[in-house]
Amino acid sequence: MTTLHDKVPKGLNHKEAEVYRHLDSTKLPRHIAIIMDGNGRWARRRHMPRVAGHRAGVAAVRSTVETAARIHIPALTLYAFSEENWKKRPASEVGFLMSLLSRYLKAEVPTLNENNIRLEYIGREYELPRDVQERMGWARAATAHNTGMVLTLALNYSARTELVDAFRSMIRAASQNGGIDHLRIDEQTVSEHLYTRHLPDPDLVVRTSGELRLSNFLLWQLAYAEIYVTSTLWPDFRGVHLLEGIAEYQKRERRYGGLNHNDAHHQAEVVKA
Ligand code: FPP
Repeated sequence: MTTLHDKVPKGLNHKEAEVYRHLDSTKLPRHIAIIMDGNGRWARRRHMPRVAGHRAGVAAVRSTVETAARIHIPALTLYAFSEENWKKRPASEVGFLMSLLSRYLKAEVPTLNENNIRLEYIGREYELPRDVQERMGWARAATAHNTGMVLTLALNYSARTELVDAFRSMIRAASQNGGIDHLRIDEQTVSEHLYTRHLPDPDLVVRTSGELRLSNFLLWQLAYAEIYVTSTLWPDFRGVHLLEGIAEYQKRERRYGGLNHNDAHHQAEVVKA
């Protein structure tokens, strides 16, 4: 095991460095996905309006993104806004979230560039307000040259809608390439038509605020992901909590449907006998 005693990356604070030192650098997740939850409850506990929780959530986004980039996680995906949020929350809250996102993108591009982070999006972008789409396009272009972590924001995202869009895209591709008789569907083809075709599947999914649901997030891609749930509400979440999630992930044994090491050994002995 390669421990990280001597090489704590620059920029980690004292608490982060403490957790980081116990991690195994050869087993960092390649892609972490986060379901940011609990903004409303954070605000309610303080007798504040729900939107105050969203505003406070931006500091959590900033800390988490910077820490992930500093420890060289190749990909981080944040569930910022589900299709259901968009359709089922009051217009005033949706409007607030849209303007918060626009302001975040404008303010954060210099920091994303300093940290060599490339911004991407998943979700039906074209259904978002035109000015938000323009700001998103601007931020994506302004970070497109970066070669470090890919930060993907899920905006107006639904995993089922993504699958529907993937099926439509496969049919369209086949019809432009010799017709439906040439349609060949296997797991790789489906993956290549998902919004996440630019990313490896997440190794770790983090959910804050203690809820035990996937909430229509990356249902195909999370097939073998380790799930880490913390009771911390999103506005209180920081880089150190991400590192704690990674520490927990590193304790798990990933089997992908196979046997663990001891069982495999035992099985081999039984076959020999
Ligand atoms: C869930 O909390 C959170 C959201 C629906 C929005 C997440 C948005 C942010 C963290 C801030 C902006 C994001 C970016 C990328 C700038 P909830 O309202 O469902 O909380 P509750 O379950 O306690 O009510």
